[in-house]
Amino acid sequence: MEVYAGLAGIPVVKSAISYIDGQKGVLEYRGIPIEELVENSNFLEVSYLLVFGKLPTAGEYQQFVSDVKKHTYLDDFIIKFLKDIPDSTHPMKVLQSVVPVLSSFDPVKDVLDKKHHYNALVRMLGQIPVAIATWKRISRKEEIIPPDLTLSYGENFLYMLTGKKPSEKEGKIFDRCLILHAEHTMNASTFTAIVVVSTLADFYSAVSSAVGSLSGRLHGGANEKVFYMLSSIEDVKKIPKIIEEKLNKKERIMGFGHRVYKTYDPRAKILKSLLKELSAEKENKLYPIAAEFERVATEKLSPKKIYPNIDFYSGILYHMLGIPPQFYTSVFAMARVSGWIAHCKEYIKENKLFRPTQIYDGGHNIKYMPLEKRK
Ligand code: COA
Repeated sequence: MEVYAGLAGIPVVKSAISYIDGQKGVLEYRGIPIEELVENSNFLEVSYLLVFGKLPTAGEYQQFVSDVKKHTYLDDFIIKFLKDIPDSTHPMKVLQSVVPVLSSFDPVKDVLDKKHHYNALVRMLGQIPVAIATWKRISRKEEIIPPDLTLSYGENFLYMLTGKKPSEKEGKIFDRCLILHAEHTMNASTFTAIVVVSTLADFYSAVSSAVGSLSGRLHGGANEKVFYMLSSIEDVKKIPKIIEEKLNKKERIMGFGHRVYKTYDPRAKILKSLLKELSAEKENKLYPIAAEFERVATEKLSPKKIYPNIDFYSGILYHMLGIPPQFYTSVFAMARVSGWIAHCKEYIKENKLFRPTQIYDGGHNIKYMPLEKRK
């Protein structure tokens, strides 16, 4: 028996939700290229596509959007729960703890009941952005902003978080970011979600656990780290030395490298062009720093097939949209909810409890040593 570290290259499911060609830099959701969806669709339509396997008809789309909107509020007890959390708590920790509480008024909690899948989806899509924005306001002693349901999904989130209505362009760009983050095959957090659901725990528990998994800096937590790294650079001329020093110290460059992509991450390519588009209208000191950092780091790392990933440019874009850095990974999470739920729904259909094995390499028949005799 052999151990496959990190399960690298080991399939754990058959899935029709998304597809990556890591050599060619291709990403498709339900067979549709990501570029096509970013250009023509919107986040809620993409969520429907991911979860239900097809683009909605006009009627299905209207119903879905209206069901999500119905849940775009927080019950008073959740606001009270958030107010009791110390202000310094990281938004990802807050999100991980608030998600299971969102299930309180969901009437169907049986994971084998299809009604649970739909209820949990529209409730979490509706309430998670409100919870993130409300936490931002509470933790900074700002007034809580109620949702404006005349705005689009992404616009409303930005409004509740920042207190300012985004321009049409900002809203569109943010919606595209959400599409890019919505799904990405069998990554660590998605695997976490299906492991949890395989025990027949409900979708809220699966999403809460996936949020914890996403928070690590080798996964979604990288976007926040990239922002700190780039914003600490004052002079572009110092970039080659900074990168050299990091690599000499065997430090990982955040926002670079991927287990599957051995070429430029197609999502990073799109984010870079969105950033360029927004930087043409709004001053952004970080864009030239990021572009030069990318150029030098790619020169050094591309011989090892290490290129920028989705987390390299997302933070700077979010910064331009007025989102504070501690909230970048929770924005990733709020978009990934649809991917996580799509996988949970797909997995539970032919559920098999995850219970891998191990190769034991400890001792046997060891005598118990009383406490007073231990050194
Ligand atoms: N910076 C510098 N070197 C890197 C690197 C990075 N970002 N990513 C991988 N490497 C190097 C490793 O040091 C290792 O080198 P070695 O063979 O000389 O020891 C080699 O590439 C393979 O690394 P490994 O960790 O086995 O690859 P992986 O497939 O498990 O790595 C990540 C995938 C994402 C964990 C890794 O690229 C990384 O840590 N990236 C930074 C964090 C990040 O941006 N995460 C978001 C991913 S979307």
